[in-house]
Amino acid sequence: MKKYNIAVVGATGMVGRTFLKVLEEINLPVENYYLLASSRSAGSKITFMGKEYTIEELNENSFDRDIDIALFSAGGSTSEKFAPIAASKGVVVIDNSSAWRMDPKVPLVVPEVNPEDLKWHNGIIANPNCSTIQAMVALRPLQLKYGIKRIVYSTYQAVSGAGMGGYQDLENGIKGMAPKKFNHPIFNNCLPQIDVFLPNGYTKEEMKMVNETKKILGDDNMKITATTVRVPVFDCHSESINVELEKPFDLDELKNVLANAPGLVLEDDIDNCVYPMAVNAKGKNETFVGRVRRDESLDNGVNLWVVADNIRKGAATNAVQIAQKMIEMGLI
Ligand code: A2P
Repeated sequence: MKKYNIAVVGATGMVGRTFLKVLEEINLPVENYYLLASSRSAGSKITFMGKEYTIEELNENSFDRDIDIALFSAGGSTSEKFAPIAASKGVVVIDNSSAWRMDPKVPLVVPEVNPEDLKWHNGIIANPNCSTIQAMVALRPLQLKYGIKRIVYSTYQAVSGAGMGGYQDLENGIKGMAPKKFNHPIFNNCLPQIDVFLPNGYTKEEMKMVNETKKILGDDNMKITATTVRVPVFDCHSESINVELEKPFDLDELKNVLANAPGLVLEDDIDNCVYPMAVNAKGKNETFVGRVRRDESLDNGVNLWVVADNIRKGAATNAVQIAQKMIEMGLI
């Protein structure tokens, strides 16, 4: 059986370290790992798979060796510059930044949802935005069974999505200190702004959800709107998703469709107050759905509550699963 060489770019970062944890858990046939980051951490040591690795500085020559797959999570500008260099040397890049997501030559993939898009890659595959990924896992089975006309997203996003700075703002805010990462205090508050505002009044995060959903579900005509909110929660994004389906549905059957969907766990027992929650999703690779109920204001409407670990399924897990799927499909 072929063994692969894998590079992790941004191995010292929040998502990079989670790449390593997930790689330790998911057993891929790997020969060698190479861990890369900036000059700031070059030379430092990381223990991974029971072995000590030295962090290398990423540069133009980093991919001049036998590397099959590179998992990138080192920011948009690093991906913009280095992903094409790696791809030109025959490396398959799985990129966690937003740099390549909307490029028509780059597949945007959630492995449970659109694995067939992996077949047309040109060396770079994009990992979707964290809030989009978990929504896709819950919505694809409904799209396949009933068709989707319109989606209304309202998100409740953890501070870890804003990196270490986001974490520190919440920790420091609890102690009464002023925020540094966010424009306003996040402790005891909800911020209806994630990323910058665009000319249409939406934030960049909101338009990522709209545009990435259309690309992944393969439907440019789908009607989608989003409001994304940062909440004082350390880990895991929660989402209220209102969906207008094309076809009528039976609620028990729809719940059954969700219960049997890949990567999705139905947690829906309101008599016992069971529903997905951030504290339970932390550290898990699955996406959780509950509060499944008919939207009585619409003909074919349904409401969902969807929760996932934004650093795991929303970033690292999804990227590692893409690598795993490509190996399974014989694409690498
Ligand atoms: P470093 O630790 O050397 O700065 P986070 O998103 O948690 O801030 O992590 C960002 C990751 O991307 C870190 O591993 C960081 O490395 C890495 N990184 C940032 N800029 C570069 C760059 N220009 N080249 C390579 N890696 C980079």
